[in-house]
Amino acid sequence: MLPALLDPETLPGSQAVMIDVLRASTTIVHALAHGAAGVMPRESVEQARETAAANPPGTVLLGGERGGERIHGFDLDNSPLAYTPEVVADKTVVFTTTNGTRALEKCAAADRIFVGCFVNRAALLRVLQADGRPVHLVCAGTDGHLTAEDILLAGCVAAGLLGIGPDDPRDLARGSVDVQTQMAIDYYLARSGDEATFRQTMRASRGGQNLIRLGHEADIERAGDRDLFDLVPEWWPDRDLISIAS
Ligand code: MLT
Repeated sequence: MLPALLDPETLPGSQAVMIDVLRASTTIVHALAHGAAGVMPRESVEQARETAAANPPGTVLLGGERGGERIHGFDLDNSPLAYTPEVVADKTVVFTTTNGTRALEKCAAADRIFVGCFVNRAALLRVLQADGRPVHLVCAGTDGHLTAEDILLAGCVAAGLLGIGPDDPRDLARGSVDVQTQMAIDYYLARSGDEATFRQTMRASRGGQNLIRLGHEADIERAGDRDLFDLVPEWWPDRDLISIAS
């Protein structure tokens, strides 16, 4: 289900997946894969600064972006490639981004809240299937607009959950999912058959074009790599932490 029509009343009893392929989801996965103790999401820059100041010096890093760039006084921007083991191991990342952390808040009423992207695609499918509750796919988009890279991932996850492959009839799921999910599946199947088309769709997306303009093309390439990490971030609002789902 896409965010414009996300009805918060349907969230209890379900699993939600926050999808911000470029780049918040991809960066959170990198941080945890490279040994960060956890990620604390914050909606505003001010809240992030306050949280960092309230923690013992040397235990937290401030990460995120505004306008796609590092925020003044922050340790890290929102490039997944910056979240290396040397930088993030054993640190808690206090994290704020324009769209990703807001999308996470929209998921807050779900029973379980995961972070999904291409670099953890297979692990995400496994965790969602093992849990079995209904799934909401919440696309963060860019500045209120849906973006192609998030739709691609939503379609990929929906197709995976329904067991639909590239050679299956396009309308296999019709009737069993809402029309938006069907559209996301159709879009994913049309754009992922060959690697060049998939990569070009990522670059041509709204999020991709923003990043190319800012000189972060390498992040688009990394975000398109499938199944790099076998982990799924899970947000625990009551613990105020995103950590690895078990
Ligand atoms: C966001 O959360 O708005 C994005 O991750 C922006 C970005 O690509 O830095």
